[in-house]
Amino acid sequence: MGNALELQDVGRRFGALHAVKGVSLKVPPGQRHAILGPNGAGKTTLFNLVCGDFPPTSGQIIAFGEDLTRRPALHRARIGIGRTYQTSLLFTGLSVLDNLLVAIRGARKGRFSMLPSGAGGEDVTRARELAERVRLAHRADAEVATLSHGQRRQLELGMALACQPRLLMLDEPAAGLSPAERPELNQMLKDLPRDITLILIEHDMDVALPISDMVTVMKDGEIVVQETPDKITSNPVVNRIYLGQGHG
Ligand SMILES: Nc1ncnc2c1ncn2[C@@H]1O[C@H](COP(=O)(O)OP(=O)(O)OP(=O)(O)O)[C@@H](O)[C@H]1O
Ligand SMILES: [Mg+2]
Repeated sequence: MGNALELQDVGRRFGALHAVKGVSLKVPPGQRHAILGPNGAGKTTLFNLVCGDFPPTSGQIIAFGEDLTRRPALHRARIGIGRTYQTSLLFTGLSVLDNLLVAIRGARKGRFSMLPSGAGGEDVTRARELAERVRLAHRADAEVATLSHGQRRQLELGMALACQPRLLMLDEPAAGLSPAERPELNQMLKDLPRDITLILIEHDMDVALPISDMVTVMKDGEIVVQETPDKITSNPVVNRIYLGQGHG
């Protein structure tokens, strides 16, 4: 089997703005790959391209040997590409369990089925398993509105896991977490089985570096550095980017 994900010279323009420029990237199966870079570097746009929110204006996107460049988002979910969003997309008026049920049914049918009532017992069992996996079993019946920020991030991870992803893409999973909430998230990320390939966007090096095997740094739509995590903090280009301007 080839790479979990391969990008060949991928670009995306929004009118005059060249948000992603000629990005080529190979992510082998099982790798933990972090994407760093300042605000506006094109990180989220790259995720949106891989997940099929919109097509690239140039280049090719291949996952698990299949050319996805022109395939719809739905198809990508079906072949096991799961993601979380930088901004939360939870149903705050529903319980933890019901959010997970929506995600489970959505993954199966390829579309969101809003009403959790009448869900089969099997789905409920799976939802409870997912709640446990993201350490929210004790909050399963709580309304999302009552969860802490960190617990919401955990739930988002649970929802992304509902489609049983082979490739999981997390957009700043630690954003907005308090220092006290981070270890729980770090542990959950570490605990993900290696049959899931993980790509995560993360501003916080303390979160990104300990779990990643490879780090890609983007700036102005381009890849500027690709290094193993042990070498990244001493890389002069990375230091210039991270010391030169604020991030977060
Ligand atoms: N749908 C869109 N339409 C127009 N411009 C867009 C769109 N999405 C992103 N952009 C622009 O593309 C550039 C890259 O944005 P992107 O969100 O990918 O950056 P990012 O690296 O994720 O930044 P951040 O760290 O702030 O999340 C920005 O200038 C942004 O304004
Ligand atoms: Mg972003």
